[in-house]
Amino acid sequence: MYSRLATILGSLAIASLVSAVPVEKRDIYFGNRGGHSQNWGSSASVSAPATASGGGAPSQTYGGQPPSGSSAGGSSDGSTSIFKFPTSDGFPDIQNPSDALTAIEQAAHGLLPNGPPPPSAPAADDLTSLRLIAFNELFEVAYFTELLFNVTHNVAGYEYQDQGERQNIIDAITAVIAQEKEHLLNANGALAHFNAGPIEPCVYQSPVSDLKSAISVARTFTDVVLGTLGDVQTHFGQNGDVGLIRGVAAVIGQEGEQNGFYRSLLGLIPSAAPFLTASTREFAFSALNQAFVVPGSCPNANTIDLPIFGALSPNPQFLDPKDQDVTFSFSATGDYSKYAQSYKSLSLVFINQQNVPVVATINSASIDQSGTVTISAKFPFSQFLMNGLTIAAVVDGSGPFNSITDVVAATKFGPGLIEVN
Ligand SMILES: *[C@@H]1O[C@H](CO)[C@@H](O)[C@H](O)[C@H]1NC(C)=O
Repeated sequence: MYSRLATILGSLAIASLVSAVPVEKRDIYFGNRGGHSQNWGSSASVSAPATASGGGAPSQTYGGQPPSGSSAGGSSDGSTSIFKFPTSDGFPDIQNPSDALTAIEQAAHGLLPNGPPPPSAPAADDLTSLRLIAFNELFEVAYFTELLFNVTHNVAGYEYQDQGERQNIIDAITAVIAQEKEHLLNANGALAHFNAGPIEPCVYQSPVSDLKSAISVARTFTDVVLGTLGDVQTHFGQNGDVGLIRGVAAVIGQEGEQNGFYRSLLGLIPSAAPFLTASTREFAFSALNQAFVVPGSCPNANTIDLPIFGALSPNPQFLDPKDQDVTFSFSATGDYSKYAQSYKSLSLVFINQQNVPVVATINSASIDQSGTVTISAKFPFSQFLMNGLTIAAVVDGSGPFNSITDVVAATKFGPGLIEVN
């Protein structure tokens, strides 16, 4: 076991992924597409299902076969690898105990926690957290299953020349999928135990079509999850549900290990910053819905008592480590049309690491004919050493904001997700 792990880790040369993927040698850059929902480059994803389905509504016309387990999927040109639950092992409907669970545990290198749940039901607010965790883990299983499918099927953009490196990423992602499945089963199991669930899967879209972008997106949403689980723990503590904290801590570290791997693949040092960036449940739920969930495809996400903010798109998203101007856009239409008049009264806030939120200095703000508001703001990298994830939010009022909680209470559009290094 140890020697096998050593082989996997030892051969993950920093530059291996970069050299394996036939993309331009610049940072992944999803911006400059206008409109909204670009947080993870999702404006590209809007076209992916349409391509697969000949232009119909994505939620109705997913024709691709599921890239799950042994079932084949994807077209010969690799353009339709659209994931759908259940996976070939029946996930997420896995009984405990069952042969299917045993197989997941083998692949995950460990058991689903087998101790008793807390004796009394968690606070309603903490059930919300468990539902959000389940909602996120279902997406992660979908994403990494599709990613593994793309690599194992040598889909265009996911081809490796070095077969050893290819096998390394297959082994790593295979374990991650099973581990994320256990995270889901743990959260949904707790919800079921307290007659409060389970959360059912949606249909998802991925805003990527090459390996480097896929890893970049994985790294970014994992950063959001890492920050959000700290928020979940804070709620557990505030609500007196201390029995749930240790298990979430075990997942935070686990996701951090994953992220070090993704970062290494991207040629970055494994640990981004001394203190990872705080997020909140509201930002995570908003980001997942804005970027990955096919609208209207979730059977019971409405039981998750969290808001979905308007989408906020930074451009560029992946920044060099220096002071610079960044453009943010959001759509002041529909539910948000009142901001077409009052957008100049809104502020832009940056959250990075565990520091006090920064109200940005705005250079300019304007609105175009389609109702898209564009803000140019200074990104004060050098003053605050803003490495890693920065969460941007467009908020009511001008602050100052003492904490991320204060920012969330005032947020209208967000999170805009920026990564440096
Ligand atoms: C897998 O490849 C397909 C086809 O390029 C793409 O549409 C999809 O977004 C990819 N998924 C992931 C997670 O990389």
